[in-house]
Amino acid sequence: MAGRIPETFINDLLGRVDIVDVIGSRVQLKKSGRNHKGLCPFHDEKTPSFNVNEDRQSFHCFGCEAHGTAIGFLMEYDSLTFPEAIETLASMVGMEVPREASRGPKPDTELYDVLQAAARQFQRWLRGDDAAAAVSYLKERGLSGEVARDFGIGLAPAGWDGLKTALASFDEQKLIDAGLLVRQEGGRGRVYDRFRERIVFPIRNTRGRVIGFGGRVYGDGQPKYINSPETEVFRKGRELYGLYEARRARRGLQSVVVVEGYMDVVALAQHGVNNAVATLGTAIGQTHFETLYRHVNLVVCCFDGDDAGRGAAWKAVDAAFPVLSETRQLKFVFLPEGDDPDTIIRNRGQEHFRSLIGGAVPVGEYFLDHLQEGIDLDQADGRALLAELATPHIRRLPSGSLQEVLVNDLAARARIDASVFARSVGATWGPDDDQRSFEGRRRADQQEVGNKRLLHYVVQYPQLMDDLDPNVRAELADPDDASLLADVVRHVAQEPGMDTGTLVGCFVGREGYDVLVALAEEEPVLTKEALAPDLEARARRYVATREGAALTRKARETDTVEDAKRRSDAKAQQVL
Ligand code: UTP
Ligand code: MN
Repeated sequence: MAGRIPETFINDLLGRVDIVDVIGSRVQLKKSGRNHKGLCPFHDEKTPSFNVNEDRQSFHCFGCEAHGTAIGFLMEYDSLTFPEAIETLASMVGMEVPREASRGPKPDTELYDVLQAAARQFQRWLRGDDAAAAVSYLKERGLSGEVARDFGIGLAPAGWDGLKTALASFDEQKLIDAGLLVRQEGGRGRVYDRFRERIVFPIRNTRGRVIGFGGRVYGDGQPKYINSPETEVFRKGRELYGLYEARRARRGLQSVVVVEGYMDVVALAQHGVNNAVATLGTAIGQTHFETLYRHVNLVVCCFDGDDAGRGAAWKAVDAAFPVLSETRQLKFVFLPEGDDPDTIIRNRGQEHFRSLIGGAVPVGEYFLDHLQEGIDLDQADGRALLAELATPHIRRLPSGSLQEVLVNDLAARARIDASVFARSVGATWGPDDDQRSFEGRRRADQQEVGNKRLLHYVVQYPQLMDDLDPNVRAELADPDDASLLADVVRHVAQEPGMDTGTLVGCFVGREGYDVLVALAEEEPVLTKEALAPDLEARARRYVATREGAALTRKARETDTVEDAKRRSDAKAQQVL
């Protein structure tokens, strides 16, 4: 590992280079007043909106909002890592990059050469003599030679050292660093090809450089796909398969369709939809959206209509919210269960697929519809619950008219004053728990929020407990229930007519005090009159779900070995 570059050097360097030279040697710039202008290299445009400011040593594009310093420009334009960009700048002005406690420099542009050579070799193999099975597989899936060429599709031969031998002129360690060869752990540390007997899809960054590969079996074999590992130049969380090809195919690219698989991207292109991209076997994340919105202003996520697809969509909402704006739109399409974009476009054609995309649901609508599932908006507590569930998400949107639209839409659905929501858009929202199933997670979220709301009611209006059905109150106060709610109800039940201050006072110095103070201070979403009729229903539901949970726990404890085995078999089936 090379050592750290001292910060003082970076400042020094930025003081010596001129951003106009740096960018001017890569993009044609024209002087215009104190600025230099040109066609933006980060999105397609016909009139220049890309500005380089000499005084501020920065660039800014009014079209796609790309902006930054000379370092940021080089990283993006030349696909360089930060240290590589520094090295490049330093060499422009004849400076040597010092390293703290370092073993000397050496940016790894050689990795790109290795990867490019591999891609060419894979393509040669697909045109070679031993490619009959792979070629007929691709033909069977409806791919023409032309599209295979556009996407640079190739073939990794069977055997352990095809690529290793073909690229023997490169340093073996470089091939390993590029993710092309694998060194066996332990033993003799044998080195062999990662991709064997697979159709390979080169993954290119937006500059068109090959940074990794995905490889699909075309005969039998598991797993269906293998992908390059993360390397210095291949970051799965940032890159999107097909983005380079989409930008190349269409000048003035305005929108992309995000699909799940490599084959979906390629099949769509085959049928004339050449603006599809896919993540690299990972969920779509915020960084992906940031990348996409640098190039387009509409992203349509096209997911399968099954539970996994819907789970992916909800994750996408979560990932996209912080980067959305009026000009950065997001929509969703759900395909019928059992279909993917590849089968749809092959069976139903381009027109049909385009009509599905045309009917995509805007993110705000999808978001509220989804949260609302299973909630009864005719009930006041249902409406309060919807508000409660939506608020933390809406808070993550940048303030602006999209957020405003959602607040108003939510207020209308929940029949509550929009200004109350606008104010309560102040909570925070933690990351998703991947482990729980999608449906389970939504139910658990609802339940948790529901229980918190019940506690909130009790803290805000303890007197309401006096009118509660005594049986329900007794159930709530169950001495076996160790929750804060039960604890609070036990206190309230002992002392009719209790007020919020006295109640909170009972908890001074005890666990739960902070929670109760926070709830006491929180502005209630509903008035006392509005929530009174719902308190009992909510309390009954709490008691019922508590018992339900206890029953499931019990069932699990008394589960036979047979049952456990059946479950684990079923799970194994799903994995395969
Ligand atoms: P799919 O199973 O939907 O693949 O997985 P696909 O692209 O539609 O391929 P076909 O139609 O079966 O040929 C979607 C994506 O998930 C990742 C790949 O990126 C794939 O394109 N994946 C899938 C893996 O990384 N490994 C796997 O074993 C399977
Ligand atoms: Mn598929």
